[in-house]
Amino acid sequence: MSKPLWHGRFDQSPAEELMAFTESLSFDLRLWSDDLTGSTAHVRGLGRAGILPADEVATIIGALEAVRREFEAGTFTFGPGDEDVHTAIERRVTELAGPVGGKLHTGRSRNDQCVTALRLWTKREMTRLAASVLGLCEVLAARAEEAGTGPDGMVLPGYTHLQRAQPVLLAHHLLAHAWSMMRDVDRLLTTVARLDVSPLGAGALAGSSLPLQPAFTASELGFAEPFANSLDAVSDRDFVAEALFDMALLSLHLSRMGEEWVLWTSEEFAFAVLDDRYATGSSMLPQKKNADIAELSRGKAGRAIGNLVTMLTVLKGLPLAYNRDLQEDKEPMFDSYDQVSRAIGAMSGMIATARFNRERMAAAAASEALAATDVAEWLVERGTPFREAHAIVGALVQQSIADGSSLRRLVAESPVLGDGAVDAMDAGVDNRRSPGAAGPSSMADQLVAFRVRMSNLRDRLST
Ligand code: ARG
Repeated sequence: MSKPLWHGRFDQSPAEELMAFTESLSFDLRLWSDDLTGSTAHVRGLGRAGILPADEVATIIGALEAVRREFEAGTFTFGPGDEDVHTAIERRVTELAGPVGGKLHTGRSRNDQCVTALRLWTKREMTRLAASVLGLCEVLAARAEEAGTGPDGMVLPGYTHLQRAQPVLLAHHLLAHAWSMMRDVDRLLTTVARLDVSPLGAGALAGSSLPLQPAFTASELGFAEPFANSLDAVSDRDFVAEALFDMALLSLHLSRMGEEWVLWTSEEFAFAVLDDRYATGSSMLPQKKNADIAELSRGKAGRAIGNLVTMLTVLKGLPLAYNRDLQEDKEPMFDSYDQVSRAIGAMSGMIATARFNRERMAAAAASEALAATDVAEWLVERGTPFREAHAIVGALVQQSIADGSSLRRLVAESPVLGDGAVDAMDAGVDNRRSPGAAGPSSMADQLVAFRVRMSNLRDRLST
């Protein structure tokens, strides 16, 4: 076992079990590029502050660039003493630059170094994730437009308690999910805005006796501002918890939508058919066509919620400032990110290519009982108190269930209802006409508002 970078006060090399248990290289390797970016800014800062002369700065930056090329080419080799990506890179820089490489870590600790890299990663990847969620919103909006937003648009039953309640436009239903996901985009971008603080220069916990310039390295790294409190800078993982929450809630939205697609593509509903490329078969049952993407989106939400709870639990009892527990910030983050990014891609493709069955949805929505509220509201418009109207129509529904007679006929024959009320029944989804309602009259406004919101988010993403 080669000696770790911190061997100075130790007589013996670390035990193998210690290294096996405490290493983080196996999962923080994906921070290599961000670590190099952080180190480059740090060395420039040391030069600007007059701590390192220009030629040493140039030598170290040259070695950092060489290391970057090795990672890009896949030729970087790891040593047995490399506990994490940060020590691996520092070791290699010193091999390449010679003794001057030993100056890279001047005024810096892995405590500010590792969280700088993770902030850089989170800022970039959460922005990317927000863009792909916006892509899914676009798919939903396109399918909504295609499903029709006018009186001839596709209609399905809206449900409460998973019981058929009232007819709604399919466009309205699809956009309902899209609105929730636009909030995810907004939330991710807000998280990114809040995490835009550079911790570099905080050192191990208390800053430095050297004339470091955290504001300079912050701006080199593209962060909006430097930390104000060094203890907070190295202890703060709020941004990890926030990103994990954003991803957990996003997963939950995908899960709820996924559950509906599982139902819709079942033989019982048959509201939609998946494209073969986005469905799976059974190893035993030749007739099966399964909505595994939708099911796994539902299943993975459990993991995303678990990752959030993991992080909150790790943070709960920690004293200031850095504690090794904080190394546990990375795996939940990377796992949630990997899973939810893939879910977004797969769900986008699945929804973009599915076929809706207009007739099946219309038949389910045409059941007479779904118009019961419209009949009651017809009475309300003619002065009957709603509670009384509810009772009158409820009695007719009861009778139609009891003797199998058509509700429509009972309405037509009722002395207080009649043909006008039958017309109200037949208006179907057109009756959903209040602002924000599920019918065609307010759909155009909703789509416009949705598109405006999407373009605002696109603007925020591009800045
Ligand atoms: N691998 C560690 C992490 O990810 C780096 C910081 C280690 N710091 C220390 N003082 N041991 O958190």
